[in-house]
Amino acid sequence: MKKKIMFVAGARPNFVKIAPLLREFAKRRDVFKTSLVHTGQHYDFDMSGVFFEGLQIPDPDIHLNVGSHSHAVQTARIMIAFEKVVMKNKPDLVVVVGDVNSTAACALVASKLGVKVAHVEAGLRSFDRTMPEEINRVVTDSISDYLFVSEKSGIRNLKREGVASEKIHFVGNVMIDSLIWAGPLVGRSTILDRLKLTEKRYGIVTLHRPANVDSNGSLIEIYDILRMVSEKIELIYPLHPRSRTMLKKHGLIEKLTALTNLCLIDPLGYLDFIRLMKDSRFVLTDSGGIQEETTALGIPCLTMRENTERPITVTQGTNNLVGKDKGKIYRGVANILRGHYKQGSVPDFWDGKASQRIASMIRGQLADRPGP
Ligand code: UD1
Repeated sequence: MKKKIMFVAGARPNFVKIAPLLREFAKRRDVFKTSLVHTGQHYDFDMSGVFFEGLQIPDPDIHLNVGSHSHAVQTARIMIAFEKVVMKNKPDLVVVVGDVNSTAACALVASKLGVKVAHVEAGLRSFDRTMPEEINRVVTDSISDYLFVSEKSGIRNLKREGVASEKIHFVGNVMIDSLIWAGPLVGRSTILDRLKLTEKRYGIVTLHRPANVDSNGSLIEIYDILRMVSEKIELIYPLHPRSRTMLKKHGLIEKLTALTNLCLIDPLGYLDFIRLMKDSRFVLTDSGGIQEETTALGIPCLTMRENTERPITVTQGTNNLVGKDKGKIYRGVANILRGHYKQGSVPDFWDGKASQRIASMIRGQLADRPGP
């Protein structure tokens, strides 16, 4: 009997992680029957559809259409809808990725129904419980059966939390699988022409975390920082819907638009964004995934957070934690523009084969187990 593997994706970073997994599992159709559930946490074309296109992800088999709500309502609605799906389809394994609300909600549902759960990108910890993602990580890891770890800090964190070693598998980074897969395609992106940019003559800004964009005080600090940096180099800022809403609410969209060297644009699709990042001088971000992608691409990254759940990007990669410290950011940018920044190296197993390792592991683990 083929083993039924149900993959869950809900928000933008999930799509990037799920794409290479689906491709690898499709190669093993003789043993696996796979399905994809889209929770609908992200629903705009810009936040979802364009990623399915760019990453060539097959259409979801099931769409839960939950949409945007408070954390409790969103998580609860995903759980209610996903419970029905799991009861009806009886998968042998549910695979969740990353740290968004969809991840924790679906892991909880599956584990309570006695269905095995695999968490891809397990063990990352920022040790900052004010981040919703940290709560999602801790909850998901504590109830998962297979914990697939992307960097070695994840092994230490899980062991410290008492997770049995047999459950922990260091496989590398599926996000980098997508990056490497996309390599030959990104050259075809016309984004530089469309934005009239020259390679290495611009920086990218992506900021959307609640801690950065949800308060007036923080947005004003960010405005000051972007004004200061844009005096040195042109900046491109693809706006996440959360950031756009907050900037509008606090009357800052007009002020940012008025900065001559800053260009606010809509969110970009995967291939366009990777192309933009690959040819940029540096990235100023609060994203998790971008800290990893810049490390893999060797692009300097200034992370506007006080902590990171991805420490290898700092110890081995090109990442620097700068918070909202204007001095650090000013010096960081000035150094990058003078060509002084750490070169970094690519972490172990960030080699495009993480999904392959995961599929082989799961095949080995599930092969001998009787169906439900
Ligand atoms: C979520 C993840 C975050 C991830 C980010 C990537 C959680 C807790 N957070 O944050 O880890 O880095 O996705 O984008 O799961 N909205 C739209 N259209 C959409 C989706 C959202 O307009 O397609 C707007 C809505 O107003 C919504 C807001 O963005 O209220 C926030 O969306 P939500 O999914 O709740 O959180 P993100 O900030 O996107």
